Amino acid sequence: MADGKTSSAVSSDKSVATKATYLKDYRAPDFLIDSTQLDFDLGRNISRVSSVLSVRKNPVSDSADASLVLNGEDLNLISIDIDGRSLADTDYCLDGSTLQLSNLPDAFELCIVTQIDPAKNLKLEGLYLSDGMYCTQCEAEGFRRITYYLDRPDVMSVFTTKITADASRYPVLLSNGNEVGRGRLTDGRHWVEWHDPFKKPAYLFALVAGDLELVEDSFTTQSGRKVALRIYVEEKDVDKCGHAIQSLQAAMTWDEKVYGREYDLDLYMIVAVDFFNMGAMENKGLNIFNTSCVLAHPSTQSDIAFQRVEGVVAHEYFHNWSGNRVTCRDWFQLSLKEGFTVFRDACFSADMNSATVKRIEDVSLLRSAQFAEDSGPMSHPIRPESYIEISNFYTLTIYEKGAEVIRMMHQLLGAETFRLGSDLYFDRHDGQAVTCEDFVCAMEDASGIDLTQFRLWYAKSGTPNLEVADSWDKSNGIYTLTINQSCRSMPGSGESEPFFIPLRVALLSDQGLEHFSIVGLVGSRDKNKETNKEMSTEAVLELCERNQTWQFSGLKSKPVPSLLRGFSAPVKLNFDYSLTDLLLLLREDTDGFARWDASQRYAMKLIEGHVSGRQLIDSSAGKAAISELGMVLEQLLQSGFDNGVWNHDYDAALIAEILRLPGYSYVIEQFDPVDITALHAAIELLSQAVAKQLKDVLLATYQRLQKQLSALGAYRPQAEDIALRSLKNICLSYLMRVADSQVATLAYQQFTDANNMTDQSAALSALVNCQSSVAELMAMKSLNAFYQQWSHESLVVNQWLTIQACSEKSGALSRVKELMNSEAYDNTNPNKVRALIGGYCARNLSQFHSNDGSGYELLADEVIRLNPLNPQLASRLLAPLTQWRRFVVPQKTLMQNALLKISHSENLSADVYEVVLKSLNT
Ligand code: TRP
Ligand code: ZN
Repeated sequence: MADGKTSSAVSSDKSVATKATYLKDYRAPDFLIDSTQLDFDLGRNISRVSSVLSVRKNPVSDSADASLVLNGEDLNLISIDIDGRSLADTDYCLDGSTLQLSNLPDAFELCIVTQIDPAKNLKLEGLYLSDGMYCTQCEAEGFRRITYYLDRPDVMSVFTTKITADASRYPVLLSNGNEVGRGRLTDGRHWVEWHDPFKKPAYLFALVAGDLELVEDSFTTQSGRKVALRIYVEEKDVDKCGHAIQSLQAAMTWDEKVYGREYDLDLYMIVAVDFFNMGAMENKGLNIFNTSCVLAHPSTQSDIAFQRVEGVVAHEYFHNWSGNRVTCRDWFQLSLKEGFTVFRDACFSADMNSATVKRIEDVSLLRSAQFAEDSGPMSHPIRPESYIEISNFYTLTIYEKGAEVIRMMHQLLGAETFRLGSDLYFDRHDGQAVTCEDFVCAMEDASGIDLTQFRLWYAKSGTPNLEVADSWDKSNGIYTLTINQSCRSMPGSGESEPFFIPLRVALLSDQGLEHFSIVGLVGSRDKNKETNKEMSTEAVLELCERNQTWQFSGLKSKPVPSLLRGFSAPVKLNFDYSLTDLLLLLREDTDGFARWDASQRYAMKLIEGHVSGRQLIDSSAGKAAISELGMVLEQLLQSGFDNGVWNHDYDAALIAEILRLPGYSYVIEQFDPVDITALHAAIELLSQAVAKQLKDVLLATYQRLQKQLSALGAYRPQAEDIALRSLKNICLSYLMRVADSQVATLAYQQFTDANNMTDQSAALSALVNCQSSVAELMAMKSLNAFYQQWSHESLVVNQWLTIQACSEKSGALSRVKELMNSEAYDNTNPNKVRALIGGYCARNLSQFHSNDGSGYELLADEVIRLNPLNPQLASRLLAPLTQWRRFVVPQKTLMQNALLKISHSENLSADVYEVVLKSLNT
């Protein structure tokens, strides 16, 4: 049966013809499916799927005699029966993506039998094999690759699933809900039947069959119900499940406490699979996880992986309410569940770890990758208006910017009122498939706050830009902030209305935070509203016009403004800070995010001053600026210790982030056009200058922390310990820039002594990136030893691949090519492709963008290779090339050529086609 997408509006000669779907075309379904009974017969090659659907006409549908159009892809249709009468070939209409039935009664039972071949399914959508284990991935449109169905989230049904398979090869047979029956057949096969009492869309369906071990625990809900928690993994991984279980229990407790939400089934299952396109999937009662997001053991996973497991386990758990009990009407509403759930998991992680550092990590990602996405050819609002391939819209915009939009509502309403809004939302829409508009209405109804203007955040793409200017009137002690907002409109969208933007501000003097009151709003619609006579140290300015001015009194001298504290809105903010202002904020601000942001701005000013032709970093002014920054950093590092032991009143994790210079992706995002060679030179000079100046204190800090950590004994993935390791290892990586044999020996020592993966991999990466010739040998030795030690642990091998792909030393590309042909690699496993190819192309930016275009060639070839096998993976890998227009030549032309090469290859999937088409045309 033909594969691929529906027929065509835009078609290019060699591409699969593909057309867009529009939000404005949304219509309620003509039919509903009250119950769905599935019967899977998992054979050696071919699997047979029988479905019995109770279908009825949708009373609210506007077309009375509509035909039933079911979705189906890559299916082999065996038979169709309606109310027990089997249909002849002439009774239905079949094409590559639909099965159409006409002249139907108002209600009927529809039986469909199909055959599928999971072993040939490398797309990892629908039913497929991962290392010999059957599993499913149905979001967004994978269910149609299992059987003909109304594969849309507003069709919700009660599912019963029977699975039959060989008992010895597939002893574990799982689906959603509760087990309701099982039995043995005489031929060595067995069956299990599952029933899920909650109605759900097909994208939440899941099935697993394999030879898996079980790790079990339990959770008692606040109303006293006992829930069994089960994690299914391969036998070799049973010792890596403890952290996921603890994270799940913590998430269940947190959701009861913070949102009043309890789990609703007696059983919660998680299955770990090695072949998976994303992080994890929230299927009702049966989450399926990428192994990388569930397995964690101190000796094989680093702190970052532990935190990722905690965050993803919580994310999928939180979806049980924000996504499953209340789901999306259509895929344009994706941010309804994803933005809200990311906001929920971010608050959870903030409560479990350093809240400031969690915020910094999220903002870093947003400001580098999401801002880039939102200014590039794939830019879209958090509620898009159209898509060609929905899989391309699981984006940073939907997830991360979506979460920022929810966070702003949380800020505007306050935590308590926001909770009233979420209660109303869950109560009002339980069991329904709803829209972003329904969410905003619930928040409005619960709070009485008018969110009319706020809604622009859902409708408009692009990052708003704030230009902030200040002035000081010595005669009356009035300080004035004037703010202008703009948003680069996409072609055709015209000048837009202003956004409603909450801007948290404070004012600082040398003594720290100042008390002030807001005495006047100049040129505002509502002059009295925000005038606040009470003195305070922080205010939330509510921007709602293109230009607004605030006046502050109570100040003795001109203050330094701390703007956008906590990153209170997803905007760019320009203010002409002096270097001295920034050092003041870095030292004295009470908002950790703002302190970190000041350090980033400081570094950016130096980098900008260098590449703008002024060679600032080499100049005496630059040297003075670096030395002043160095003194503040040195003081931060020293004040953390009491008698050589780190005092936990100081957030070591925050100081580690302050030390870390802005990453390439962030720096690149600040420039248009991007001259990568110049940026690379500036970043190198700056980091070396800082490392040289701080060498002694970095070394002392490293040694003290090393001592303190080894005194603690066994590894714990606790926040305080993670913070110490983070600070220690950032010191180590800085020291590598000094590149003498002493520091190389230090790293080698850490590599050989490490009793946990955090320290082992940090040391390995330090050695690999150290420019000293002594380190070269040690790096070789360590890379070999590491592989010998961990070749049996797939996830650790992936870390080993990434460390090499991200090597800052020249020659990384030829090493990547070597590794592509090694036994350590498998070019059909998405985790390995992301580790090696993704590592090089998305994280080793100075080399990926090298002048000869070799990085682009590698990426284009990989995208072309993956396009027919795993289009989702191919399309995601492609992202770095979408930025081509912002680069100077030769990068610009070379990237464009790589895109053209992909566009000329045969049979482009809808996924790759959409990204390439938009990149070349917008
Ligand atoms: N809903 C999943 C999540 O955010 C996302 C997801 C998992 C997904 N697997 C996918 C989306 C495959 C598209 C395709 O937790
Ligand atoms: Zn999600």
